[in-house]
Amino acid sequence: MLTKEEVVQLLNPVKDPFLHITLKETGGITNVSIKEDKKHVSVKIGISKTNTAEQMQLQQEIVGILKRNGANTVGLRFEQLPEEVIQKYQPAAEEAQVSSLMGGNSNTKFIAVASGKGGVGKSTVTVNLAVSLMRLGKKVGIIDADIYGFSVPDMMGVEQRPAVRGQKIIPVERFGVKVISMGFFVEDNSPIIWRGPMLGKMINSFFSEVEWGDLDYLLLDLPPGTGDIAMDIHELLPTCKEIIVTTPHPTAAFVAARAGQMALKTEHEILGVVENMAYFESKKTGEKEFVFGEGGGTKLAEVLQTKVLGQLPIQQPYEEEDVFAPSVYQEDHPNGKEFHRIAAKIIAKLEE
Ligand SMILES: Nc1ncnc2c1ncn2[C@@H]1O[C@H](COP(=O)(O)OP(=O)(O)OP(=O)(O)O)[C@@H](O)[C@H]1O
Ligand SMILES: [Mg+2]
Repeated sequence: MLTKEEVVQLLNPVKDPFLHITLKETGGITNVSIKEDKKHVSVKIGISKTNTAEQMQLQQEIVGILKRNGANTVGLRFEQLPEEVIQKYQPAAEEAQVSSLMGGNSNTKFIAVASGKGGVGKSTVTVNLAVSLMRLGKKVGIIDADIYGFSVPDMMGVEQRPAVRGQKIIPVERFGVKVISMGFFVEDNSPIIWRGPMLGKMINSFFSEVEWGDLDYLLLDLPPGTGDIAMDIHELLPTCKEIIVTTPHPTAAFVAARAGQMALKTEHEILGVVENMAYFESKKTGEKEFVFGEGGGTKLAEVLQTKVLGQLPIQQPYEEEDVFAPSVYQEDHPNGKEFHRIAAKIIAKLEE
């Protein structure tokens, strides 16, 4: 029959399902008792989160191990690890997780596209920067982190759904850019009503369950404002850089500053400001009209102590007969060229 020491030996290598380090390291085996006559082993295990699906899996794993090694019956109780233990291992665990999720390529650069306000062009900027980076020879992925208001698949004209290989989701590829979006996992655009913790989980699985392969850049299209998802990303990806999008309207810039302040607070480097819908240029006269005002981008860049990376006028992509991608600017389109310049600046900033 098993001894206490043997039970500890057997369970030491088992991993905490959330911290991803062994019970030996977390000190998670808190009690072991043995009833020789009945071959009954009871153990108490401390883990970082209790009452989860992961706990159920862990339970099966532990019971299996003990029964294979001679226990007839197993009594198992879970308790929460002390807060200081969780705190101690949490950040390291998450970082290790994210880098391993990215195929062990720690060189992947994360860029979140944020704004304080909705509808200013975050998704447009994300999509076009991704495509421009790809045109400059980079391997690029997009996470559409706007769980409720996903729009990347429509903007890029993605029609297929991701494939699943083994336990992993294979992102959809469009114009050479890998894309994952909540939009791929809901039926007929039905609204999503998940709350708080589920959102974070979703973002997590966009890393852990998606086979990204080797990426140079992973762009995250954030929902407007400084809500839960932005917070999750700040925690999950401490090295994430930010681009702040604003319209030239001074008030919009003022609002966008909030998103920027948040980035500064969490010590995310701000790469710069993109001023979108900067003006409208008349095709007939070539005259520029500043329909949303002027100066917002510059003002915001000053507040955030950064630079304006570029200005995009109001203009639709050219219509093409054979390619449907309503928001992707062609390489020879004036906005496509501006995005190209912005992408080149980003590469210069991050790689040289
Ligand atoms: N430079 C531009 N010229 C013309 N239309 C544009 C431009 N930029 C964005 N748009 C359009 O404006 C709308 C809003 O843009 P987009 O969806 O990119 O903004 P967003 O900040 O991501 O919005 P949300 O906060 O809802 O996620 C879209 O219909 C988009 O096609
Ligand atoms: Mg958007």
